[in-house]
Amino acid sequence: MYSTLLIQIENNICTITINRPDKLNALNKDVFTDINNVLHEIENNAEIKSAIITGAGPKAFVAGADISEFGKLNKEQAIAMSKKGQDIFLRIENSPKPIIAAVNGFALGGGCELAMACHFRIAAENAKFGQPEVNLGLIPGYGGTQRLTQIVGKGRSIELLISGNMIDANTALQYGLVNYVVHPEELLTKARSILEVINSKAPLAIAACIKAANAVFDKSENGFGTEVKEFGESFDTADMKEGTAAFLEKRKPNFTGK
Ligand code: COA
Repeated sequence: MYSTLLIQIENNICTITINRPDKLNALNKDVFTDINNVLHEIENNAEIKSAIITGAGPKAFVAGADISEFGKLNKEQAIAMSKKGQDIFLRIENSPKPIIAAVNGFALGGGCELAMACHFRIAAENAKFGQPEVNLGLIPGYGGTQRLTQIVGKGRSIELLISGNMIDANTALQYGLVNYVVHPEELLTKARSILEVINSKAPLAIAACIKAANAVFDKSENGFGTEVKEFGESFDTADMKEGTAAFLEKRKPNFTGK
């Protein structure tokens, strides 16, 4: 079904592995098509409560957009490519089901942008992050200038963008770009154990938290206003009634997503 992705669904967690290890999992057109399709599956498959994106092989998460597809593009085609990539990454960011990045090596260019579009990131000790587009006379085109600045702050972001320098996993941790750094062999176990906790929470409340947190950066909407609206709406859900009742009755909640 997917020519560039490996998909595994277990314990309500969908693990998506970008599978072009001989090209360090570079994002070509086929990968984008497959990511778009798997996002549709995540949205529509009730068995999936959350997802992990990782890369095949020991070396790379994703080493960027596929540079071999750049040569033939004119300005209009490059604009269309950037817009399409941005739209797909926005779909990840706006997914009501949590999608996290398990960064198992190089996360460069479009790879760093993909990781940043995810709701949060966990890195293996050998992970490396960077936006090396400036080395190619380009700039990031899939939201990197925006999200890197949001996540690590303007000074660090501009330094990374205009130097093309890579940072290692521990620097990424210090910058707040990743939440955890773990041994490479523990990467997926750690990601899954975090998602198992998250998957036990109320799905509508999770979706509302994601929406409200994203609204901080959405200039067309007031984040505090969104929080108020989503807070109010959560009171209209069966899961809110169940969650508060279960707490008071000292039992585990049984959330139904309603
Ligand atoms: N696009 C297309 N192909 C890529 C790629 C990319 N972004 N990144 C790596 N590859 C390919 C290489 O061309 C090579 O293919 P080949 O074996 O057919 O020659 C293969 O993946 C392995 O990469 P290689 O460069 O040999 O590995 P390395 O260990 O020497 O270096 C990197 C690793 C990540 C430092 C290096 O591959 C690199 O700089 N990649 C590009 C990073 C980048 O600029 N990304 C932003 C793009 S906008």
